Amino acid sequence: MQLALALGALLFLESTAAFDILRDYSGQHFFEGWDFYGYWDNLTLGDVWWLNQTEATTERLAYINDAGNAVLKVDNTTTVASNDKRNSVRITTQDFYDYSSLWIIDVLHIPYGCSVWPAFWSKGTLWPNDGEIDIIESINLNPNNQMALHTTAGCMHAANVAQTGRSAGLDCGVGSGCVVVENQPNSYESGFAAAGGGVWATQFDVSGIYIWFWGRANVPASLAQANSTSSIDISSWGTPSASYPVNPQCNLTQYFTPQQLVLDITLCGDWAGVPSIYGPQCGSAGPTGDCYMDNVVGPGSPKYDNAYFEISYVRTYTTTQVAAAAPGQPTSTSTGTLTVSQSEPTSQAQTTDSSSADGSDEPNPSPTSLAGGSDETSAAFVEAGVSFWVLLASIACVSAVPLLL
Ligand SMILES: *[C@@H]1O[C@H](CO)[C@@H](O)[C@H](O)[C@H]1NC(C)=O
Ligand SMILES: *[C@@H]1O[C@H](CO)[C@@H](O)[C@H](O)[C@H]1NC(C)=O
Ligand SMILES: *[C@@H]1O[C@H](CO)[C@@H](O)[C@H](O)[C@H]1NC(C)=O
Ligand SMILES: *[C@@H]1O[C@H](CO)[C@@H](O)[C@H](O)[C@H]1NC(C)=O
Ligand SMILES: *[C@@H]1O[C@H](CO)[C@@H](O)[C@H](O)[C@H]1NC(C)=O
Repeated sequence: MQLALALGALLFLESTAAFDILRDYSGQHFFEGWDFYGYWDNLTLGDVWWLNQTEATTERLAYINDAGNAVLKVDNTTTVASNDKRNSVRITTQDFYDYSSLWIIDVLHIPYGCSVWPAFWSKGTLWPNDGEIDIIESINLNPNNQMALHTTAGCMHAANVAQTGRSAGLDCGVGSGCVVVENQPNSYESGFAAAGGGVWATQFDVSGIYIWFWGRANVPASLAQANSTSSIDISSWGTPSASYPVNPQCNLTQYFTPQQLVLDITLCGDWAGVPSIYGPQCGSAGPTGDCYMDNVVGPGSPKYDNAYFEISYVRTYTTTQVAAAAPGQPTSTSTGTLTVSQSEPTSQAQTTDSSSADGSDEPNPSPTSLAGGSDETSAAFVEAGVSFWVLLASIACVSAVPLLL
């Protein structure tokens, strides 16, 4: 009897951590199921045109390489004239992924370099009302990745949660969001590719939002051995890099609706290009000290030779299992409505055109983790966040933004 109970409990525990594949974006089919933006970066005011699929394919800014990996890149073959923009890519999944889902991305190279601002993130239909999760995001020569949630006012990240990253701002409703800076080495910049890349996993659950990162050498067997049809057992993954458990100061379901995944690369704009942020890292990279003039304008190579994503796959998973652990435990799964929509928004979103960019659905600039920036600097940025971004929005020319440091 006791043995039977114990076995039953064991089976139950094991099964609660299993996720089944929903969609595999990889190989020759990687770009099926994404929409290309097809307009300039009118969202973060970066100096790029995000090409439509036809152009991005023709210009080889979005393609599958000989290794079978997806490449998304900034144009490095063109000489850009002053006042023009450089070509790049931004793609968004047609599918929306609801609570109880898991998103895995296996990456070999992340864009980096002065002026470069890449992101892998998610958003609901309406921004910021429906929430934003930043999974991979950094700028310029930052050595580390940073993660963040962005919400409307009222959602706070709990202090002292079980995470290996460092919180750099707890208010998810301010301009910079509730940032968690990755502490592990080689999560961005040249070190990331040199270490063989790595894998990020994001669990979107009613109990919380959890992001794990592993460098290539540490990718768990459950992922390293998985193929495009495998189920994923997350029970042995340990402490996430960023943990956002539901807490009395943030009822997640109030702030997040089903999410689309986004991959993009912009240049300069209202994070990487802000003079007070760009200057300390890259101000000596060219004659003017200006992000746009010293990078975007002129020849594309060698400046943008490293401004590309190389991605082995993006896979999405879901589980139908009922929560077994207490809220806040990363391995618990949810009783949340399981409605992963195929190519159209779920109920919360049906009245809105899913393809329309509302103008602000962007990974928010998160100026809290400058390389070499002190904690005091970070705190100042967070406090200045709201008024700063309001100010920024009212100023047409990014270079006119006053120094904050
Ligand atoms: C893609 O962009 C080019 C250049 O702006 C335009 O000529 C073409 O019609 C667009 N194609 C589609 C399918 O929108
Ligand atoms: C994935 O792995 C499983 C178990 O090893 C195997 O049965 C299945 O055929 C594999 N699927 C693909 C698409 O390779
Ligand atoms: C959390 O938000 C959901 C969705 O808005 C709502 O139905 C629920 O009542 C809220 N729970 C609490 C404890 O506020
Ligand atoms: C552009 O960058 C790629 C690497 O991303 C490199 O192989 C290629 O040679 C560069 N193009 C030019 C024109 O230098
Ligand atoms: C950005 O451009 C898109 C596509 O033309 C448009 O739908 C959207 O309203 C624009 N957003 C802003 C903030 O200008």
